[in-house]
Amino acid sequence: MSLAVGFDRVTVRRGDTDILRGISVSIPRRCVCAVLGRSGAGKTTFIKALLGLLPVTAGHIITKHGTLDEPRALAAHRHKTAAVFQDHALIDRLTAIENVQLGLAHLRSPWDPTPWPFEFRMAAAAALREVEMLPFAHQRVARLSGGQRQRVGIARALVREPELLVADEPFSSLDPILTRTLCQLIRDNVTRLGATAILVLHQIDLALEMSDWIVGLSDGQVLFCGPTSEFLTSSLSNIFPSLPRPVLARAI
Ligand SMILES: Nc1ncnc2c1ncn2[C@@H]1O[C@H](COP(=O)(O)OP(=O)(O)O)[C@@H](O)[C@H]1O
Ligand SMILES: [Mg+2]
Repeated sequence: MSLAVGFDRVTVRRGDTDILRGISVSIPRRCVCAVLGRSGAGKTTFIKALLGLLPVTAGHIITKHGTLDEPRALAAHRHKTAAVFQDHALIDRLTAIENVQLGLAHLRSPWDPTPWPFEFRMAAAAALREVEMLPFAHQRVARLSGGQRQRVGIARALVREPELLVADEPFSSLDPILTRTLCQLIRDNVTRLGATAILVLHQIDLALEMSDWIVGLSDGQVLFCGPTSEFLTSSLSNIFPSLPRPVLARAI
């Protein structure tokens, strides 16, 4: 199995608490991996560490570019990775299409005074069409709803054609129909590009349906890491101990 990402006994401390506690995780390439866990389990911390946005206190994060403590490996990993954040991380004063184009900023010199190339605008428009936001291309994102902003964030990630797509609750402000459409869109893009997606999801049924691999976190530890086909009711009840039995039965 070739790995997209490996965590080798990784601890992440914030303040005086270990939020991730010596976790080891393997995520294969070319899969959709769902990260599951209750609120406060450490999912966002896991994603931020994986993006190199939070320092690791102990252990190593390994990608195909090397371990992320090496600056060159971290730079290559960032170049090939696209992220969708829970708070969208968009630039409010810019339009939707301008925000999506920024996904391609790494292909351009920051000092280039010329207008964005036509191909970049076309790629941004195509990504907006995929998330059903093309009619809002010239609207400032400050004026869009939470769900619309989230779709612009997804388009900005997809336009990069990333090797690794990492998203923290990318569907949290979307209705169930759009959630399913966009999850399928991410799946299709991952397959087309031979890429890997790591998605924090709070919809258990969606995770079970759409993922190939699951990482289940609880209290900063890994309770499950493996193929979705091997994920059992018992794994689910360990990760979500308070879920009533009928919900567990429906989810599996
Ligand atoms: N900046 C921080 N400083 C100290 N503790 C934090 C900080 N951010 C998050 N935490 C704590 O880390 C734990 C995990 O948080 P988080 O990774 O956001 O969980 P999740 O995304 O699963 O809800 C929580 O107990 C949270 O209170
Ligand atoms: Mg979170």
